[in-house]
Amino acid sequence: MIETAQEKEGEGRIGLRMEGISKRFGPVQALQDVNLTVHEGTVHALVGENGAGKSTLMKILAGVYGADRGRIEIDGKVRSFTGPEKAIEAGVSMIYQDPDLAEHLTVAENVFLGNEPRGALPFMIDNNVMVNNTAELAENFHFDIEPGAVVAELSTGDCQVAEILKALARKASIIVMDEPTSSLSESEVERLFEIVRRLRSNGISVIYISHRLEEIVGLADEVTVLRDGQVVHSEPMSKLDIATIVRHMVGRELTEFFPARDVRIGETRVKIEGLNSGAKIRDVSFEVGAGEIVGMAGLVGAGRTEVARAIFGIDKKATGKVSLDGKAVTIKSPGEGIANGIAFLTEDRKRTGLCLNLACSWNITLAGLDLIGMSRTISPAKENGIAEKLGRQLAIKWAGADAPAESLSGGNQQKLVIARWLLTESRFMIFDEPTRGIDVGAKKEVYGLLNKLAKEGKAILFISSELGELLGVTDRILVMRRGKLVGNLKTSETSQEEIMHLAAVEEANE
Ligand SMILES: Nc1ncnc2c1ncn2[C@@H]1O[C@H](COP(=O)(O)OP(=O)(O)OP(=O)(O)O)[C@@H](O)[C@H]1O
Ligand SMILES: [Mg+2]
Repeated sequence: MIETAQEKEGEGRIGLRMEGISKRFGPVQALQDVNLTVHEGTVHALVGENGAGKSTLMKILAGVYGADRGRIEIDGKVRSFTGPEKAIEAGVSMIYQDPDLAEHLTVAENVFLGNEPRGALPFMIDNNVMVNNTAELAENFHFDIEPGAVVAELSTGDCQVAEILKALARKASIIVMDEPTSSLSESEVERLFEIVRRLRSNGISVIYISHRLEEIVGLADEVTVLRDGQVVHSEPMSKLDIATIVRHMVGRELTEFFPARDVRIGETRVKIEGLNSGAKIRDVSFEVGAGEIVGMAGLVGAGRTEVARAIFGIDKKATGKVSLDGKAVTIKSPGEGIANGIAFLTEDRKRTGLCLNLACSWNITLAGLDLIGMSRTISPAKENGIAEKLGRQLAIKWAGADAPAESLSGGNQQKLVIARWLLTESRFMIFDEPTRGIDVGAKKEVYGLLNKLAKEGKAILFISSELGELLGVTDRILVMRRGKLVGNLKTSETSQEEIMHLAAVEEANE
């Protein structure tokens, strides 16, 4: 059994002990004899490559899956969870990346859902009590949220706060957050960190999963690293740094994270002039050359995805001029976008990306055929062959190309979307947050891939919220603010500070 570093030092009370946890899904051994010890009132980071088993381990803790073997002890008591309700009773709450709330109900109604305070008359729910209790709970933890607000009108960040309140109302002592920041804006991320610290100072243990290792450094007290379903390391954060964590995650040193850019930029392949779309996008113009990687930075909500959607023909009312290789084109649908040689890798793989219940191979070959209205004439065997090859190229972790997409870990699903677009013949490729939710090793592969595609002469637009990767990979960076283009910078001559300033600071005359 692996003894954790904290036990050696004898610090703090143990809130959670998972021991010898194993779990198999068909041919995949997702977890093998995993031990995890979490101390009360600490933030415990769980890290590892895509498919390492992080979410599975936490779903076992939350009673979503049963373990094949192993035991769970909470506050010294052995627990066996036969369903999520049992886990909640034992004090475990899970906050998912996509909030799991009833959209048409208020924050207070969600917080007390299934647990409503009764009024004077039987079967009457006492709304005032519910609102007051929610307000009190929010105040105790200094959360800034309106108990009467309807969830459908809340931002993702507010939804998460509502979920955390719900956990607190159920007296959670352990709160699990699985990649909570991947769809938050920067200010919402800051707020979440404050909330996590406040939970910790109230004696609650937070288990925190993230691929953004900088977050872990600032937040975690202890770090456990999973690799291929096994714990390979567990240590206080104070004794670790990012490079060491990465080494444990991937099992080797990761050097030269960003590829060398030695591409000669050719003629202008893409010219966008005076693009307007919806109420938001105003007069956006830019060019991308053959072999050029142009980044697009901006805060969440600045309109970056909307620009891409307008160019690709998703937002049909968009106006402006799009020219490809010197010829003006009209694109009023994604089919026309693809027919003109544009590829668009969407950021939201759940809603606009994948058919989760269908085979990976089907999901990969989809873009080449169905979207442009061609019949699916290739044989399943051929489809599988193509998918297997792309799977190897991108190191997708799956039982096989015929496995359903939903059986893949989050990051590996993202790779499916990328694989799909590698099949189409495109001259202009738009990548919208392609590295969201994927591990460091896979990120490096994606950067290498962007570089390779650029070398083939494609024009690339790379939308990202991570300035580090934009600075590491691109030739030029466009900065969006409130639907307008406010910067067009040469990457070698700019800095993180300059981009942040442009993205965030309002000019006096705006
Ligand atoms: N419901 C399922 N059916 C079949 N296989 C599954 C299922 N859930 C997970 N797996 C497999 O178990 C392994 C661990 O997956 P898990 O989702 O726990 O990874 P993860 O560490 O959370 O990865 P990511 O960082 O990509 O979210 C993967 O190989 C995955 O394909
Ligand atoms: Mg996961």
